Order: sequence, then C-alpha cells, then structure tokens
Amino acid sequence: MAIKKMKNIKICCIGAGYVGGPTMAVIANKCANVKITVVDSDKDKINRWNGDLDNLPVFEPGLKELIELNRNKNLFFSNEINDAIRDSSIIFIAVNTPTLESGPGAGFGADLKYIRLCAEQIARVANEDKIIVEKSTVPIKTAEMLNEVFREINPKYNFEVLSNPEFLAEGTAIEDLLNPDRVLIGGDNTISGKKSVKILFDIYSKWIPKEKILTTNVWSSELSKLASNAMLAQRISSINSLSALCDKTGADILEVSNAIGHDHRIGKYFLSPSVGFGGSCFQKDILNLVYLCRNFGLNEVAEYWHQVVKINDYQKKRLTNKILDNLGKDLSNKNITLFGWSFKKDTNDSRESASIYITKDLLELGANIKIYDPKSSIDIIINDLLNISNLSINELNQRVTFYDDHVKSVVDSNCIVILTEWDEFKQFKWDELQNKLSYEKIIFDGRFILNSIYTNKVITL
Ligand code: NAD
Ligand code: UGA
Repeated sequence: MAIKKMKNIKICCIGAGYVGGPTMAVIANKCANVKITVVDSDKDKINRWNGDLDNLPVFEPGLKELIELNRNKNLFFSNEINDAIRDSSIIFIAVNTPTLESGPGAGFGADLKYIRLCAEQIARVANEDKIIVEKSTVPIKTAEMLNEVFREINPKYNFEVLSNPEFLAEGTAIEDLLNPDRVLIGGDNTISGKKSVKILFDIYSKWIPKEKILTTNVWSSELSKLASNAMLAQRISSINSLSALCDKTGADILEVSNAIGHDHRIGKYFLSPSVGFGGSCFQKDILNLVYLCRNFGLNEVAEYWHQVVKINDYQKKRLTNKILDNLGKDLSNKNITLFGWSFKKDTNDSRESASIYITKDLLELGANIKIYDPKSSIDIIINDLLNISNLSINELNQRVTFYDDHVKSVVDSNCIVILTEWDEFKQFKWDELQNKLSYEKIIFDGRFILNSIYTNKVITL
C-alpha cells in the first residue's frame, strides 16, 4: 500500500455535486494537512465552484463559508481529472447513480455507467496503488464490478475498494457532515483492506468520535445505505397513507403524527405528512432495492418496498385531485400559484420534487402556473418541466410564470398551493395574500405548515 502517513495524504473526489462538494469542503476544513482536489467532467460546474461565492452550484447553509475558508488552500476544484487521479492516493467516487432509463432493469435498477467510467479512467491513468472509496449510493456488489474493471485494465497495482456511503440530507448537509449520527466504512478483511479502512477511519476521527465510526464488510456497508433510505422513506409513506384515512374520518394527521411520535420506540422524526417525498435519492434507492430483491427471486420483499413508492405517487395525485374537487374539473383559465419548487427547504435542488409532477398534471388540466421559490429560477423550473411534460418551451414560457416577489405571484390567482416547507412562508401575511386571490380564496397546504387560524379556508391532504 503506497499510503503510509496521514500527513502525505492527497485526496481526489470525482463528482463535484451535492455530495462531493460539501463532503470535501468539510474534510478539507477538518484536515488542514490533507490536500483535496474535487474534479468533475462538467466544466461550468467547476467554474462555479471556483467563482462567486454567491453563485456556487450547490446551496447549503454554511457551505459558502467553508468554501471561502479552504478554497485554494487545501481544497481545489478542477477539470483536470487525470492529473488529480495520478496525484492522489485516495480517490472518492461521488458521481450520480440515477435510475436506469433503458435496457434490463429500466425504471428500477441503478445506472452504474458513471461509476464504471470513473473506474476505467482511474485504472487507465493510475501509476501506483490507490484506495478507491465508493461515496455514491450503489447496489450491493458494486465493489465486485469495480474490482473486475481494475483487474482487467490495470492488474499491475492494488486498488483497494472501500464502501463509505454518505448519509447527509440536503438543506442540513454541513451540519450532518460535521456531526453525523454515524460514519460507515466497509472494507475487505485482508491486510491491505484493513490498512485502508484504518486510513479512512483516521481521517474521519479528526472530528468524529471514534464510537460513531462503524466498520463493516463491504457488502453490509453497501446494503446499509439503501436500507437506511428505504426505512426513512417508509416512515413518510406510512404517515402519508394515514393522512388519506384522516381525510375520510375527521382525524387530524398532525395530531395523529404527534401522538404516534411520542412513543420513544417510534420517535418523532420523519413523521411529517407531506405532499410526498422528493429528492434525487429516496425513490431511486427504493426502486433499486426492489430490483435487487427481484433479482434474488424475493418477489414478496420487492413488492413490500415498492409499495412505499406507490403511496408516494398516490399522495402527489391526491393533492391534484383536491384542487380539482374545489376548483372544478376544467382548470383552463384558472391561475394557480405554487409556493415552493425545491424538494425541501434550504436547498436549491428540485430533483424529483413533488412540485414537478403536480405542475405537469395541472398544466395538462389547462391551468396557468405562477411560482414563487426562494432559491429556484425560471430556467431550472422550465428545464424540470421540459424533461417531463409534452409542452414545448414556448408553451411553457407562456403558461408558467416565475416571481421573485411572493405577493405579486398571488395577484389574480384562484388558489395558492404550498409545496415546500420554506420557513419564510410561515412569516407571510396570509390574510392579506388571501384577499389578493381572484375569487376562490383557497389555500392548499400540501406541506402542513399553515394552520387554519391564518386563513378562512386552508385545505390539507
Ligand atoms: P450530483 O448529480 O449532484 O453530482 C454528481 C456529479 O458527478 C455531477 O456534477 C456530474 O457531472 C459528475 N460526474 C458524473 N460522471 C462523471 C465522470 N465520469 N467524471 C467526472 N465527473 C462525473 O449527484 P449527488 O446528489 O452529489 O449524488 C452523488 C451520489 O451520492 C449518488 O449516488 C447519490 O445517490 C448519493 N447521495 C446523494 C445525496 C444527496 O443528498 N444528494 C446524499 C447521499 C448520497
Ligand atoms: C435523504 C436522507 O435523509 C439522507 O440520510 C440520505 O443521505 C439522502 O436522502 C440521500 O441518500 O440522498 P434528502 O433526500 O436530502 O436526504 O432529504 P430528506 O430530509 O430525507 O427529505 C427527503 C424528502 O422527504 C423531502 O421531500 C422531504 O420534504 C420529505 N419528508 C421528510 C417528508 O415528507 N416528511 C418527513 O417527515 C421528512
């Protein structure tokens, strides 16, 4: 193993996205003697990481301050991927692993093409032993695929593959990285495997208590990541399924959630009812788990987890149906204001946001859409909709309007729909906003942040 001393360590992270950027910023901040180069094939993204602190590609509370402190000291952003690989003894792979769009496993399995491309590139350019860290979320046995690529292309050197999944949540990424519930490192039970685990362990133990750094075999680590996301999402689908029952019976889902969460064996977290979970990971990771189970012939297990995603889709449709029940089946000539576009508060990320699917349905039903979100822009919104709707860019530009002033966004609207739980929405003067609506005076609270005290008529799921 080429890596001997902590003070010599150079890290390359392939993938400068929502995981690579914040994670490396925190490691750089906590380990001044480690040099980190974050690389990406997307030149524009790297330029933004190197540019104006108010225009970084990722918005996260606390991130800009860390970048300001460490950039060009021991933290670098670059497009020179080969140089960074050659120069580093530890290579993190933090590229995207989206759901497969075609071929076997389409719609369920994880597309590992970006992971494979990274492995091939590392194998082609490496001229010494390396530790390879799977930071991306991957299906169990991905390390085996990486090992095959390394053996095939570059049998001369030892590439020690570790699994070190990331558990940060967007919006709280920096806090999660600084104070994680746990860090998981999976490695092989060989001399070089154990040495490599120790090296990564030592990096994390610079700021994380040792008892929170769990070491396992590679397969347990890979599976624990998918399983953790599945369990979290399952709680949301469970509470959302009960919100439908509350709706029919007069029970209040917030009261029910509160009562359930008081049982310390259940706990209060991840029991907030919503318009459905979004984000780039929950759905993709559960579908991947479903695919894995099916591949192992575990059809009942696959069906069990698939139901979590099905309830999530059902919840999004329920909101659209509520709007139709109240505004009539024909939404043409109706203006609908959406508060919130990102999939949760405190992030500029809108991947898989419920807002995209709800807007698509509302547009198909004829509505015009007005949007206010503190961190999204019209470009992001139009791009999200182009990927999913049949409407042309011209039609979208005519029927979707973006506002940077929430008061203006409600003028002449028939209703307001709350789709993200941004804190600032709670401070709005709801009575005044309601009076600006054209006639229906209805607010649909898909995120349960309002309470009917604020308005005459709030409809929740
Ligand atoms: P992202 O799309 O924000 O970033 C991935 C980056 O990798 C992109 O900038 C892309 O250009 C780059 N890339 C892809 N292939 C490349 C290649 N061959 N060479 C160089 N660059 C390449 O994705 P993300 O949200 O950071 O997620 C990355 C992984 O981490 C995924 O597997 C995801 O499931 C997992 N994860 C994400 C989160 C999250 O909150 N976003 C949390 C935990 C784990
Ligand atoms: C989630 C996990 O929380 C992270 O641990 C994990 O690392 C990450 O996925 C990942 O693998 O990508 P993230 O998707 O960023 O993090 O954000 P969450 O806070 O989990 O929220 C996901 C969605 O669930 C959001 O739309 C949120 O609004 C929704 N949600 C969350 C609810 O509807 N109810 C809740 O009680 C909690």
